[in-house]
Amino acid sequence: MTQRQKTISGFSKLSKRGKIKWIVENFFRDPEHVMHELKSYWLDNEDHQKILDEISENTISNYHLPFGVAPNFVINGRTYCVPMVTEESSVVAAAASGAKFWMNRGGIHAEVSDTVKLGQVHFFYRGDRSVLIETFEDLKAELRADTSEMAANMEKRGGGVIGVELKDFTSEMDDYYQLFVSFQTCESMGANFINSVLEQFAKTLIAFYTRKNIEVEVLMSILSNFTPDCLVRTWVECPVGELGLFKGGIDAETFARRFCQAVNAAEIDIYRAVTHNKGIFNGIDAVVIATGNDFRAIESAGHAYATESGKYCSLSHCTIEGGMFRFSLQLPIAIGTVGGLTSLHPIARRSFELLEFPDSRELMMIIAATGLAQNFAAIRSLVTTGIQDGHMRMHLGNILKTLKASDEEAEHVKSHFNGRQVSYGAVRDYLHEERARSSAR
Ligand code: MEV
Repeated sequence: MTQRQKTISGFSKLSKRGKIKWIVENFFRDPEHVMHELKSYWLDNEDHQKILDEISENTISNYHLPFGVAPNFVINGRTYCVPMVTEESSVVAAAASGAKFWMNRGGIHAEVSDTVKLGQVHFFYRGDRSVLIETFEDLKAELRADTSEMAANMEKRGGGVIGVELKDFTSEMDDYYQLFVSFQTCESMGANFINSVLEQFAKTLIAFYTRKNIEVEVLMSILSNFTPDCLVRTWVECPVGELGLFKGGIDAETFARRFCQAVNAAEIDIYRAVTHNKGIFNGIDAVVIATGNDFRAIESAGHAYATESGKYCSLSHCTIEGGMFRFSLQLPIAIGTVGGLTSLHPIARRSFELLEFPDSRELMMIIAATGLAQNFAAIRSLVTTGIQDGHMRMHLGNILKTLKASDEEAEHVKSHFNGRQVSYGAVRDYLHEERARSSAR
């Protein structure tokens, strides 16, 4: 057997076929088979495949995830069928079920309070602080002038740099200051615009002080993914009595109380809060991915926002007051509807079409509403039947697919496992027995 080669230089310069060849020959037991399999996931549409190949680097194949939809979202009186991409079973079904529940109870409400994005130039200055303060207005004028061309297009669309502040962190790190910059980036997420402006700001900052024989050292220039002023709020409400009856014969009052207590638990206890918020992001991430936006940015901003009170807690809140049940969610969601993958990724484009081309504010509301519906459905299950019931039904479907059960066999197995404990081993053994029985017949 030839010696396997686990390292390589110049890998990125190999053709796609060359990359696959090197990978399969050096890491897999059956290179021919794996090569064939990896290629089988390439798209027939070569234009679309080329787009996917170039989105990232060293691409050798496509990694498929399900593209699903959750219908019946009524948000501010408008009906949406929400696109969702997730690897987790039950998520889309739960979002759809949460949306349907509220569809006939006034729908989901949402509002965007602002869409401010932020960035920072981190720098060191070793002199007298008052010099920075006295020269700051002149510096600002120069920062503006040096980025005027860069910002012209964004300004035409109503955006651009909206503020520059000087922040002093010298009590926390010697000589450390920031230019703290706020932006409006209209329909784009704005990362490229913000980072370009910040890098120019850094150059201008150095040039401005060099002319005055003052030394500043720039550490780095980068947007901040914490966007507490790019905020969306979404809520549902109805008289408690209209919540109806729940599985297990649970009445509306009991449900409302238990639901609120479950949300309160996530306000009190970090172990519960993280799981609770994870459930919210099950919905949020799925729409963010389906629309070609950056889910890591939105997750990190959301989790940071969950610590606003000084302690990590639930992003959603629930009250029962004057007989009204109210459940709300507020968090920052910085997204774009143009640029990046939003128009490049073939399916992301379809997601926008499905949503009837929302602008960025509308998309923020759709994403937040999906998080709320998701959270509602999860808590509803948890405080009534528990989630394993539904999960296991989905799980059973996946096991049956893995075991290549025919439709007839699947029906049989499903009725056998109705009310019984589902596990891969149990289903496999039962299916084997069934197959043996039917071949003996
Ligand atoms: C599972 O992905 C999400 C839940 O754990 C969320 C929750 O507990 O609220 C069901």
